[in-house]
Amino acid sequence: MIAERTRVSGEWLDLREPADVAARDAELVESLRRHLSSTDCLVIHDLGCGTGSMGRWLAPLLPGPQNWVLHDRDEDLLDAAAAEHPGPAADGASVSVETRASDIALLQADELADATIITASALLDLLTRDELDGLIDVCMKAACPVLLSLSVVGRVDLVPADPVDSRVAAAFDLHQRRMTERGRLLGPDAVAAAVEGFRQRGAKVLLRPTPWRLGAAEADLAAEWFTGWIGAACEQSLELASETVSYARRRLAEARAGELAVTVGHADLLVLR
Ligand SMILES: C[S@@+](CC[C@H](N)C(=O)[O-])C[C@H]1O[C@@H](n2cnc3c(N)ncnc32)[C@H](O)[C@@H]1O
Repeated sequence: MIAERTRVSGEWLDLREPADVAARDAELVESLRRHLSSTDCLVIHDLGCGTGSMGRWLAPLLPGPQNWVLHDRDEDLLDAAAAEHPGPAADGASVSVETRASDIALLQADELADATIITASALLDLLTRDELDGLIDVCMKAACPVLLSLSVVGRVDLVPADPVDSRVAAAFDLHQRRMTERGRLLGPDAVAAAVEGFRQRGAKVLLRPTPWRLGAAEADLAAEWFTGWIGAACEQSLELASETVSYARRRLAEARAGELAVTVGHADLLVLR
């Protein structure tokens, strides 16, 4: 069993926020807007909010007053999210924020009973199958649209290519599917599991590819992403770690110099009733 890395750093989330904004699917938001029932105030529960990137992107795309309820188990990230307030709304209406320190895996239906939208971003791969099933159940009971953004799908493409890339990618995916005290994480299988789970319960699911496309302008992010990618792969396979020392050094230098084009596959899901 490989210990779960429990904390996501705010610096990493800040670094990736512009690439996340560029990748998120705005057409799904149009579909979401068409499915909102008229209400005085939207109540949007963002699960695993981190520093609140989803709210900063989505709140200005939605009309009317909004109350964002930001959930995370990391109280430092919740404080950062509360400090970087989203909004105003598309029509200038006010946006308020409240934070809740909570474990998404233990959420109960009554905690989401007032939701008019549920969102999560870059969260699903961190869940086990049982946790995802529980989350799907509470979302279905809330009976509102659910927007699940930027879930990794296990596709990575580096240009120029190197024969070692595919070995690192395979080890990284195994690391994403690692066994933890909570069970095996879904990693790149999370999107297919979520689509299947919602459809089995009678929901309509719209699926869009939302890859990161990192070039020279995103060299800092590409380098930081590469460091995490190779690090996880080497944690998974000590043999790979000993064989990729010069590969890792060379590829990181390329990434830092803006000479490595990186595509990281993600998908956005919109769940409608
Ligand atoms: C990759 S970050 C994404 C953060 C944010 N949604 C974004 O898109 O920038 C995953 C977030 O989910 C939180 N998280 C992971 N598992 C969680 C759980 N079981 N309960 C609550 N928060 C969780 C982490 O603390 C982290 O803030």
